[in-house]
Amino acid sequence: MDSFIINGGKPLEGEICISGAKNAVLPIMAATIIKSARYKIHNVPNLKDTRTMISLLEESGAKVKFDKNILFINTESCNNPLAPYKLVKTMRASFYMLGPFMSRFNTATVSLPGGCAWGPRPVDFHIKALKEMGANIVLKDGNIICNGKLKGGLIEFNKKSVGATGNIIMAAARAQEPTEILNAACEPEIVDLCNFVELMGINIEGIGTNHLTIYPNNDDISEIKHFVIPDRIEAGTFMIAALMTKGDVTISNVNPNHLEIVIKKLREAGAIIDIEESSIRVIYNGKINPVDIETKEYPGYPTDLQAQWMSLMTLSNGSSNIIENIYKDRFTHISELIRFGAEISFENNQAIIKGIKNLIPAPVMSTDIRASASLILAALTADGESSISRIYHIDRGYEDIELKIKKIGGAIKRINS
Ligand code: EPZ
Repeated sequence: MDSFIINGGKPLEGEICISGAKNAVLPIMAATIIKSARYKIHNVPNLKDTRTMISLLEESGAKVKFDKNILFINTESCNNPLAPYKLVKTMRASFYMLGPFMSRFNTATVSLPGGCAWGPRPVDFHIKALKEMGANIVLKDGNIICNGKLKGGLIEFNKKSVGATGNIIMAAARAQEPTEILNAACEPEIVDLCNFVELMGINIEGIGTNHLTIYPNNDDISEIKHFVIPDRIEAGTFMIAALMTKGDVTISNVNPNHLEIVIKKLREAGAIIDIEESSIRVIYNGKINPVDIETKEYPGYPTDLQAQWMSLMTLSNGSSNIIENIYKDRFTHISELIRFGAEISFENNQAIIKGIKNLIPAPVMSTDIRASASLILAALTADGESSISRIYHIDRGYEDIELKIKKIGGAIKRINS
């Protein structure tokens, strides 16, 4: 397994371009199954997860070409509504195949996703909603087997779920009647999925709100083109890195509107932030103030930037609190940050971070995509050589991360094991 060697202690300075959003492109790729057509999708990040989604599409019979961040997907030959365990176990987002399979074929066999480093990742909301739309669902050999021509209807989620909202939007695309979703997720990635599904002739009311109505449509289409939104989580990661390393970094190809809460929190922490139409500049201004965060569904502070914020707070000039509301134990990065000398305690879903002057270099281990990012940030500030193992996690969600870090002055190299 590959690892990174990082020689930290230098400010990050310069400009980098942010890639397309992983969490938008994954459901959009699955949505190409809904209607038989040829799709050209721009600004697609070359990640382990997007390559896994390509394998899932090919498993279903689609033809896919991926060339310089452009995806060419032809779903005219899809004939196998199956998402097998060997692929689903490597990426929870494989479950996004369920809705499109039901829309296209009225049947689907999708392996249940496994858990992850921070506990179970249930899909009960997805299953309950599909049953309410008229699906017959059985569990056999670890697979969800779903059958029936979906009716549509009124779906109300007890809790906002990005994945369940995305799956039901895609399942509703060719149902017999419209589907109304209450308490829907409204993350920018869901908005991008809605905009893509509308290109297929399926009208959606309430895009960007928690109340969606999907009007099904079965008209044939031929060619669809789409440009994926920028990755706000990658952008936020580099914004936090700029402040944490006491640097001056401009990130381009971003949508500042997707980062309002992160900009607000970084300004409270003492950063100077200049905003242009599609770029954000973050400048260290002599201090890192302690700032509490509480993760919430969009537009609240994103859980996918919680670990990175914790890393920053280890160097603040005071004590700060982090409350993680989305996942009950998304704190696996704490024990690794403590190896850098960080002073962190936690109980249940609340962590207390006591800022210290400097982190010290150490060998550490990644446990998930965003925890890996928090460890890279810590290593970039620790004066000396650190190593981070199991970086296959980071390769799932950050395109060319070491090239981007090198471009702004970070001393990082990949060791192929
Ligand atoms: C998406 O995961 C993202 N992944 C996650 O990003 C992100 O952390 C999460 O949304 C929250 O924003 C992708 O988009 C591919 P949820 P998802 O359904 O859809 C519970 C990353 O690092 N829940 O919104 O799986 C669930 O356990 C990844 O890029 C149920 O209980 O998240 C969690 O506590 C990590 N039953 C909460 O809801 C369900 O059926 C939110 O989960 C579904 C979810």
